Amino acid sequence: MGKIKHIGVLTSGGDAPGMNAAIRAVVRTAIYNDLEVTGIRQGYQGLIKGFFKPLKSHSVSEIIQRGGTILKTARCEEFKTEAGRRKAYDNLKEQNINGVVVIGGDGTFAGARIFNEEYEIPFVGVPGTIDNYIFGTDRTIGYDTALNTAIQAIDKIRDTASAHNRLFFIEVMGAEAGFIAIRSGIACGAEAILIPEIKDQSKSLKKQLEEGKRRKKSSNIIIVAEGDDEGGAAKIANKVKDDFKDYSVRVTVLGHIQRGGSPSAFDRVTASRMGYAAVEALLDDQKSVMVGLKNNEIVQVPFRKAVKTYKDVNWELLELAGILSV
Ligand code: F6P
Repeated sequence: MGKIKHIGVLTSGGDAPGMNAAIRAVVRTAIYNDLEVTGIRQGYQGLIKGFFKPLKSHSVSEIIQRGGTILKTARCEEFKTEAGRRKAYDNLKEQNINGVVVIGGDGTFAGARIFNEEYEIPFVGVPGTIDNYIFGTDRTIGYDTALNTAIQAIDKIRDTASAHNRLFFIEVMGAEAGFIAIRSGIACGAEAILIPEIKDQSKSLKKQLEEGKRRKKSSNIIIVAEGDDEGGAAKIANKVKDDFKDYSVRVTVLGHIQRGGSPSAFDRVTASRMGYAAVEALLDDQKSVMVGLKNNEIVQVPFRKAVKTYKDVNWELLELAGILSV
């Protein structure tokens, strides 16, 4: 121990509720260990452009309950280039920063992994994305809050759907994965859940809806993950609407409301644990690893695995959703 004296922290990729709680934990754990901390604004872009800001304990006061990220975030193409990473390295050297905590998703970790193959300054990751698709952690920061935001919205839609005998297609986020769709679907008693992991689902959906019609269901909520292979909620609604003229069909895309808002208790606590663990990992001379949560224990996962390995959805949950929606 002793190599790390000054750490940098940044958020990168799509923001997620709980990122601020993670920044706070990183800053305060660093200060507790007598380290200097510098915030890097706008993710890797700010690292390349030199957007540095010293952080003190008071800099992270009253942010644990706030969505978004006080450090701002960005998706950065330049960090994918050797020249971009060189600039980032030179800036870190100039600032005397000798360890970096990156909070973000798989794109963030892919960049950090390459950087750590080229340069000695260690990067450690904290998984922050509402999509929850990152391998090596049961939960990513922001997922729980996004789910709660989604179900509040879907519950409201259920009220109006049932008042009018309507068939609603509700599109949720999740990038290429069905994590948000499955859990929000179960939590709202959705009649069907369409996820990117299963192809060509509109045929089986028609059968399901016919069955529901026979049982005189007054409303139907179909959750469609944005990454679904048939082009999203609006396209699927178009494919089936002529066969179900008894219902009027409506489409709602929940969109970016799923990314904002005050983080849930679970996300705040998880972010606090992960931020703390990331600084501890740097102090333990770790590099190129993500901290994650497995069976409620903090673990470390090499970026190599976190980035390359596919994380499957929970198929038992999907089956359960099917059984309970009959
Ligand atoms: O990764 C988070 C996420 O919100 C995804 O669910 C979604 O596909 C994407 O980001 C949207 O990105 P943008 O904010 O750039 O539109």
